[in-house]
Amino acid sequence: MADRLKGKVAVVTGAAPRGEGVGNGMATAILFAREGARVVLVNRSAERAEKLAKQIKQEGGEASVFAGDVARAEACEAMAAHAVKTYGRLDILHNNVGIGAPGTPETVKLEDWHKVIEANLTTTMLCTKACLPRMKAGGGGSVIMVSSIAGALGLMGSPGAVAYSTAKAGLHGFTMSVAADYATQNIRANCIVVGSVHTPMVAHLGAEARERRKNMVPMQTEGTAWDIAYGAVYLASDESRWVTGITLPIDGGLVNLRAWPR
Ligand SMILES: NC(=O)c1ccc[n+]([C@@H]2O[C@H](COP(=O)([O-])OP(=O)(O)OC[C@H]3O[C@@H](n4cnc5c(N)ncnc54)[C@H](O)[C@@H]3O)[C@@H](O)[C@H]2O)c1
Repeated sequence: MADRLKGKVAVVTGAAPRGEGVGNGMATAILFAREGARVVLVNRSAERAEKLAKQIKQEGGEASVFAGDVARAEACEAMAAHAVKTYGRLDILHNNVGIGAPGTPETVKLEDWHKVIEANLTTTMLCTKACLPRMKAGGGGSVIMVSSIAGALGLMGSPGAVAYSTAKAGLHGFTMSVAADYATQNIRANCIVVGSVHTPMVAHLGAEARERRKNMVPMQTEGTAWDIAYGAVYLASDESRWVTGITLPIDGGLVNLRAWPR
């Protein structure tokens, strides 16, 4: 275990994956703990989060579970209060919760549209709102957003995923706004653009779709949740103390090399 996050308290939303395997939130929570952070694992399912907490503790890390739906303002407030009550402070918020749904403007169900906007954007806003006062009280903090190549920078879209692309694009505006508003208070806000990583979230895609996703990537390899988590550790740590308002694509080159011939 290294000490890049020693003394810090981190909240990771949607930390436990919905299925077998390692999700982005799970890998991030594990690496945060390996780097010395005390980590609050937030999930609707306490059972899955407890399993992850056990794993982190077995490795010698520190974690506690907060079960709740972060689309609800009261749950977010209780989550932030839990972090401070349990560990005495709150330094890092990793806004990992997110879901997708299929559809174009003509075909998306309105119910799905609302669910996707809520799960990606409203959760991020409510968690950030609840954590900011605690970060201010502690002298600063790092807020990390989790976007996708589906909505990167508002410059890319994903076919057949209008709600998801729109919600993820919105996270970039949110990031810039928080970064600007809190820069003088030593609170940084940055956004990771997640590429085609293989996690439980996309386990439903068959082998063919998985191969297609891999072939889109300039590096021609598949990413993992660990690739995302290493980026999150940097943005959470004091190594990035002078970095705010950035978008960090972790995607094998997909976003920035989109004109690359393949
Ligand atoms: N896997 C990919 O290819 C990929 C690509 C781009 C972006 N992403 C992004 O990565 C993030 C998720 O990654 P993951 O692998 O950890 O996903 P995951 O689905 O394994 O884990 C997310 C967890 O969040 C929980 N959750 C959902 N809504 C919640 C709510 N309202 N309150 C509390 N918990 C809630 C889910 O139950 C799930 O356990 C998402 O933001 C997703 O959009 C993933």
